[in-house]
This record gives sequence, structure tokens and C-alpha cells, in this order.
Amino acid sequence: MVKIAIAGGSGQVSREVIDALLAAKKHEITVLSRKELPAAKVISPEIQWKIVDYDDKECLVEALLGIHTVLSFVQILSDPDQKSQKNLIDAAISAGVRRFAPSEYGSKDTINMPWWQGKEIIREYLKEVNRKGDILEYTLFQPGLFLDYLAYPHKTSKHVDPLQTIFDFESRRAIVIDGYEGAIITLTTVADAATVIAQAVDYEGKWPTSGGIRGNRVTFSQVLGIGHRVRGCPFKTEKVKIEDIEAGHLKTSWGLSAVHQAVSEEQASDLLKNVSIGILLSSSKGAWDISDEWNQVFPDYEFTPIESFLAKVWDGKP
Ligand SMILES: NC(=O)c1ccc[n+]([C@@H]2O[C@H](COP(=O)([O-])OP(=O)(O)OC[C@H]3O[C@@H](n4cnc5c(N)ncnc54)[C@H](OP(=O)(O)O)[C@@H]3O)[C@@H](O)[C@H]2O)c1
Repeated sequence: MVKIAIAGGSGQVSREVIDALLAAKKHEITVLSRKELPAAKVISPEIQWKIVDYDDKECLVEALLGIHTVLSFVQILSDPDQKSQKNLIDAAISAGVRRFAPSEYGSKDTINMPWWQGKEIIREYLKEVNRKGDILEYTLFQPGLFLDYLAYPHKTSKHVDPLQTIFDFESRRAIVIDGYEGAIITLTTVADAATVIAQAVDYEGKWPTSGGIRGNRVTFSQVLGIGHRVRGCPFKTEKVKIEDIEAGHLKTSWGLSAVHQAVSEEQASDLLKNVSIGILLSSSKGAWDISDEWNQVFPDYEFTPIESFLAKVWDGKP
């Protein structure tokens, strides 16, 4: 049995992981939240709900006393300086927490993705903390992009809302960089990522710092091939020039329109263009070519294959 604290445990990705941890029926789970649990949102009677103030380190230390593992899912977009996670890390060390996972759950590098720069701030912070020795064991859980997003607008996970991507299976179209069709993207279902994270909590060996979870490692061309097969015709692929997108211009006839719930209306239109540009450029530079440390730890774990997942989602859909 492990005592686990889940920071940001009221969010979308965290609730998937909480479900996977509850299914294991071995842990004591405490959710750390800035607010009261809304009556309509009871997660599970087995979970303790603790209200914390991330600006108050003493309150955080108190909340973490006796906790073995902290998993953070703090929404980094709403905390530009990453004060909440820095204070959480400091408090975890003071409270004698053994393991920590920062709010990662995405790509290996964040190059060209300014909205994820907060992850770099925390990576540096954790490195600095451990510079003089093993102060806090941690892993960066990185499953790549959630494969569920290729099902947009259909919801394929219990808690994570659908999001549109540059691979638009619904309208059978895609955006790629001319000449970079071989760029790699790692796509893992939210459910697989959550299960592996829950297994990692049980794992008794030392957590690897780099925590790649590689569900499916595919090229952009392979995704388009799968799209052709599961949607019954080739995708209309718009090819953009690398010079244009490096200059911030996205010269396409369509763009993303669905935004994550944490993004404000004012931020939305710029962010949507920047997300397309960022995903295209970062993948051309290898940012989504995720490592496989957790695959190696759990070699028998069978990940959901991309093609069968998408074939099932799109079967019979117009
Ligand atoms: N790979 C992918 O495709 C992918 C997709 C989605 C998300 N992600 C990653 O998964 C992680 C979680 O994302 P999510 O979409 O699940 O997040 P979310 O639901 O938007 O937010 C998670 C929680 O963060 C807490 N929070 C918000 N602002 C905060 C602040 N300033 N200080 C402390 N806590 C704060 C909130 O909890 P309380 O209000 O209860 O305190 C919220 O429920 C992020 O790192 C994100 O980048 C990856």
C-alpha cells in the first residue's frame, strides 16, 4: 500500500490516473485541491479531499506528512511562474516524500511549444534540487500526444475532453510540413498512460528520471496511411513550408477550433494557431519521439495499437 497525494486531482488527466489507482485497490489516495469538492462531483468515497493553498508552504508540508508519492497534475497554463509546483516540490522534500512526478504527461522536448515552457521550468527545478545528491526521486511521465485526440470530436476516455489536432479524422484532412512526412509522433491512449502510471506507483525499483511511455511510435505518413484505411479515402493533406511556419505563418485553408478548457477566450485564437505551428515544428525536431523507459520496466504491458483503436472509433461514422 502506498500513500499517494494527487495535486490537481480534480482535473481531466488526473482523474483517469485516479481511476487506474482505485482499480488496483491498494492505495490511500488524497487529492490536493484549492477548493471544496463540489457536491455534484464526488470522485469516490475512498478518496480524501484536502484543501491546500499552494502559496502557503507550511500548509503544503502538513498535507504531505506521511505521503510516499506525489503525482502532480497542476495545470501549468494557469501558473506561468510554476510557483505552485515549486512550492509543492519544496514541501514534498520537507515532509519526507519519497517520490514525485511533476505535471508532464506530454512530449519529450518542449521546443517551439511556448505553452508548455512551464514544464521546462520544473524540469530545471528538479535537476537543481538533486544536483548535490538524491534528494527527491522523480520521473517525467511522457506518453506523447493522447491518441484519443485523433477521435475528435468523439470522446473516448471518461474524463479527458476531445481536442482537435492537425490530423482531422472527422473531415479527412491533415496539415504536414512539406518534406517532413517522416517526422515521428508518439501517440498513447489516456487509458494506457494512466495504467502504466498506476503500475509505476507500485514499482519498487528506482524511478527512471526520463519516463517515456511509448504507446505507438509512428511517422506522420503512417498516421495518414491509417487515416486512409480507417476513413475509407486519402486525407486531403495541406503541405506547409518550413520557412513559413518558422516565421509564424500558417498558410492553410483551415485551422484548429476546439481549445482546452483551461484556455481563456482571449488566449484561444492565438493559441490555436500556435499549437498547430508548435506541434508541426516540434515534431520535425524530434520532440515527440518519446523514449521507452516505462515500456522497458513493464515489457509485458500491451499498449492499444493505433490502427485498431482508430478503426473501432471511426467504424460506421460518416
Ligand atoms: N499529452 C497530452 O496530449 C496532454 C493532454 C492534456 C493534458 N496534458 C498534460 O496533463 C497535465 C494535466 O492536464 P489537465 O488537462 O488534466 O489539467 P486541468 O484539468 O486543466 O487542470 C488540472 C488541475 O490543476 C489545478 N490547478 C489549476 N491551476 C492551478 C494553479 N495555478 N495552481 C495549482 N493548481 C492549479 C486544478 O485543480 P484545483 O482547482 O482542484 O486545485 C485543476 O483541476 C498537464 O501537465 C498537461 O500539460 C497532456
